[in-house]
Amino acid sequence: MLAISVVGTGYVGLSTAVCFASRGYKVIASTYDVDKIRLINDKVPPFYEPMLTELLTSGIESGNLKAIYGREEAILNTDVTFVTVGTPELADGSVDLTFVRKACVEIGRALRKKDGYHLVAIKSTVTPGTTNEVVKPILEVASGKPAGRDFALCMTPEFLRQGSSIYDTFNPDRVIIGEHDETSGDALYDLFQEFYDNNVPIVRMNLASAEMVKYASNAFLATKISFANELANVCEKLDDVDVNHVMAGVGLDGRINPKFLNAGAGFGGSCLPKDVKALVSVAKAVGCKTPLLSSVLDVNEAQPLHVADLAISTLGRVTGKKVALLGLSFKPDTDDIREAPSLKIARRLMDKGAVVYAFDPAVTHIEGPNFEDLTCASSIAECLQGAHCCILVTEWEQFKCLEPEDFIKNMSEPVLIDARRIYDTEKFSRKLHFLAVGLPLDRKTRRP
Ligand code: UGA
Repeated sequence: MLAISVVGTGYVGLSTAVCFASRGYKVIASTYDVDKIRLINDKVPPFYEPMLTELLTSGIESGNLKAIYGREEAILNTDVTFVTVGTPELADGSVDLTFVRKACVEIGRALRKKDGYHLVAIKSTVTPGTTNEVVKPILEVASGKPAGRDFALCMTPEFLRQGSSIYDTFNPDRVIIGEHDETSGDALYDLFQEFYDNNVPIVRMNLASAEMVKYASNAFLATKISFANELANVCEKLDDVDVNHVMAGVGLDGRINPKFLNAGAGFGGSCLPKDVKALVSVAKAVGCKTPLLSSVLDVNEAQPLHVADLAISTLGRVTGKKVALLGLSFKPDTDDIREAPSLKIARRLMDKGAVVYAFDPAVTHIEGPNFEDLTCASSIAECLQGAHCCILVTEWEQFKCLEPEDFIKNMSEPVLIDARRIYDTEKFSRKLHFLAVGLPLDRKTRRP
């Protein structure tokens, strides 16, 4: 079995590391974050992710996985390196390659000292052309060796979702291999065939096309969500049209499929918003207009504000009124609040004078000058206590089992806005002043 090194220990890097380790590969996770090294080697997940504790524990205890400081030892002692460092967004929407460049210099320097063949596979999300035009020259100069002859070079985009990253790593719908040359592609193909036991479709292409698959996929998912949200806003103004029923009907068309058609508070996280902006920026750089993608972003910017406005228009003046938010993370099963709709909803309400409390099972405090006035409650009951309105923002399992009585007994006014459509409309409408994204606002059953 080949030995694997993973450069970067975020969601992608650590999931890759623990999954390969669990299938018997020797894996070295390389990072410069000493706290993370300690945590990983102590079997403590550095972030919240289902199944991570179990796989980290088995990886470390079996001796298959270890985290180390720096890159050289990791490269010298393995056959394959996955580069998973972050590619943050720059102010103009383009991608910051600082971490990728630095990682490649270090990998190249290590390769200079190494005799055998080594495969470098880029998993970081990079715009089309990056692996060939930025990564390859850096590796070649730093190593003094040509790609394709002395080392293999591939790009294999990652499609895992936070909150299910371990499951997704083991069960991808497909694997994409972008190859610098056929021999490089063969090396990664063989590794994936072995890892997935021949059970996952593997599609091979050139480097830049593989890079584009990642952006195109995230842009399409974002488009589906904005489409559902735009229709939800229309349904709210019509008589008796529920966007949930509409999307259930639409999604059963095999050409469309039901996934990512849930109307809600908008898409957040570190990927969909960033990747759509990066794609717009790539297109702009080559003189292409992208009105569809720009609209996807516009709809998404407006959606959390629309949710906040549902509360504002229902309560009338919100000054001094308590609004309870259930959920802060950008989606369930993660403690990540990057680009979370919750923050935009909270900010809008606080700007209008509301007193905002939030409860999230995984997010216990929000840092930053913009959110000093947001109170994180330590329980659902504390969050709801005396509230004039509650907005369900993130569909955590803990919230799905709440009954109308849980709201009625704690709140000062039982106004509930379901921004993720997790509650039964008829049941909640009978007992509460119940509003939901994509549900007609003037339903006669609205008030208890
Ligand atoms: C997304 C993609 O789904 C992954 O395939 C990809 O690998 C990842 O980005 C990445 O580029 O690294 P992620 O951001 O973890 O994954 O989470 P998603 O499940 O895609 O959710 C993103 C946002 O869309 C969340 O805020 C979620 O609430 C929202 N969403 C999702 C909706 O509003 N409606 C839906 O129907 C689905």
